[in-house]
Amino acid sequence: MLTLNPFAELALIVPVFFMKFFVILMVLLIVIGTGLDMLHKKNVVYFFRNAQKAKKSAKTQLSTGVKTSVILKTVASDIATTSELGFGQRRIAHVLGMYGTILFWIGSFVLIFGYSDGIKAPDYISVIWHLGAMMTCLGGYWFWFFLRVDVSAEAHPWYRIITADLFVLALLACATFGLAWSFSLSAGATNLSYLFLILFILANLVLFGGVYWSKFAHMFYKPGAAIQKNLAEADGSRDNLPPPSDAPEQFGLGIKREKPKHY
Ligand code: HEM
Repeated sequence: MLTLNPFAELALIVPVFFMKFFVILMVLLIVIGTGLDMLHKKNVVYFFRNAQKAKKSAKTQLSTGVKTSVILKTVASDIATTSELGFGQRRIAHVLGMYGTILFWIGSFVLIFGYSDGIKAPDYISVIWHLGAMMTCLGGYWFWFFLRVDVSAEAHPWYRIITADLFVLALLACATFGLAWSFSLSAGATNLSYLFLILFILANLVLFGGVYWSKFAHMFYKPGAAIQKNLAEADGSRDNLPPPSDAPEQFGLGIKREKPKHY
């Protein structure tokens, strides 16, 4: 079941050219959506202006070696393990969803561009595709049902949907309908597989076509912001924030005193 390449089955009824065109169209939609988002929010202009301003108040000039080391550490921790989310369920769920999505996308790309022309895909690539979708579902549904702030802290029901949910819901729809499509093909349920295929295509159009309105682009902004923050810490400019006091950092439990559940 996990070794089935659903795109090879699709190639029996749809020209491979269409599949490749669809993938390229989705990439273009990401570029256009993110570009429009940057123009609208002016966040990148602000980001670079702020970085230039902070540079002027740097206490030390970082050598290329130190800069590289700060960037590598940021990639290994802040980006690869989303350390911003601290230790706990939120981070595990995010890491599952993030790597799941990356595997699912890489798997889709390799299966479509390398193995839908009649060449049989190695089993492990199809397994990666299915595994990626399952990890995305596990991390995404965990987040959706239990960890979303307005559900876990503000007592809204899990089925309350707002625009901010567009990204996570479209991502989950892609992974869920992709799996349902593949499993119904494996089970020989042809009519059902057509239904799930259509839903899978629609979910992709919403996910990639909705970049401008959704949180999709955070996967590009967050790494940039984390690198800038750590470089600003290393050169002493601290994004023009006041320096830490000499006194030891004893702030008590603060927001960790109790869970934010006041309803
Ligand atoms: C393929 C890459 C990624 C995927 C699929 C992904 C997926 C998601 C999803 C589904 C959410 C929940 C969105 C919501 O609030 O509705 C989220 C939130 C978040 N992501 Fe990502 N993400 C990716 C990359 C990254 C990276 C590289 C970082 C940081 C460097 C990051 C940091 C965050 C943070 C801080 C949140 C807020 C978490 C929360 O409210 O619990 N993400 N991400």
